[in-house]
Amino acid sequence: MAKVIMIASGKGGTGKSTAATFLAHELAFKGYKTFLTELDMGLRSIDVISGISEMAVYDIGDVLQGSCSIQKAIVTSPYTKNLHIMPAPGKKSGVQFENLKKLTDAVYRDYDFIIIDTAAGMGEAFAAALKVSDMAVIVATPDQISVRDARIVSDEIYAYGLKDIRLIINKYDKNTFKHTGFEDADQIIDACCAQLLGVVPYDVSVQLESMAGKPLQQDSTVKKIFESICERINGRHTQMNIK
Ligand SMILES: Nc1ncnc2c1ncn2[C@@H]1O[C@H](COP(=O)(O)OP(=O)(O)OP(=O)(O)O)[C@@H](O)[C@H]1O
Ligand SMILES: [Mg+2]
Repeated sequence: MAKVIMIASGKGGTGKSTAATFLAHELAFKGYKTFLTELDMGLRSIDVISGISEMAVYDIGDVLQGSCSIQKAIVTSPYTKNLHIMPAPGKKSGVQFENLKKLTDAVYRDYDFIIIDTAAGMGEAFAAALKVSDMAVIVATPDQISVRDARIVSDEIYAYGLKDIRLIINKYDKNTFKHTGFEDADQIIDACCAQLLGVVPYDVSVQLESMAGKPLQQDSTVKKIFESICERINGRHTQMNIK
């Protein structure tokens, strides 16, 4: 039975799609059967980040509209057979909760994890994903606006009744952190009201690898951080190093 995890943020561009894809990669590399999809209808990213943009013919928009079967819209990752990807459509389309529920119900038994990357903010796709998720991961960057918006999203998730809310602080830069107005990561955690999964540094290689559709480099710091994020998602507590 899959654990369904939605990836959300208040502000755009915090790194949701990047984090969703790297998280899905690391879970799959660890042997978990993982389904990754994106509900940013018309503004897709994970097809590129996961390296399947040339392989995808159908998308989740086709599935939700009932114009193609689930199997037809699934692409197996070129890097691991444990990761199945259903990209977002290139054209704007709606997300009805009932149709998303039908999809997650249909694949629920085949996976250990279903990762749903959403669009920034609290639109229709966010609301639909919220209703089918067991856990929400908010991705925030260490700046006042991103964190304030993350709190608004966190409160909305909590008010709905989803209590397992986690946080990834992304694009952390120890040299500029002192200018953010936050004293330390704890202040951001408190402000977001979410349990910390990890702090991912700002790293140009993350940008380059994701744009090239490749997984994180073996033994890189960011890969190790995503490995420990997987451990924490699986309930194992590992040392939190902030680099
Ligand atoms: N840790 C990081 N270090 C450096 N660059 C990063 C990091 N994480 C993400 N990025 C870059 O930030 C940009 C935005 O990332 P991404 O598309 O994942 O954000 P998003 O939150 O999904 O955006 P949107 O709100 O538009 O869906 C991309 O260029 C990505 O490569
Ligand atoms: Mg995105």
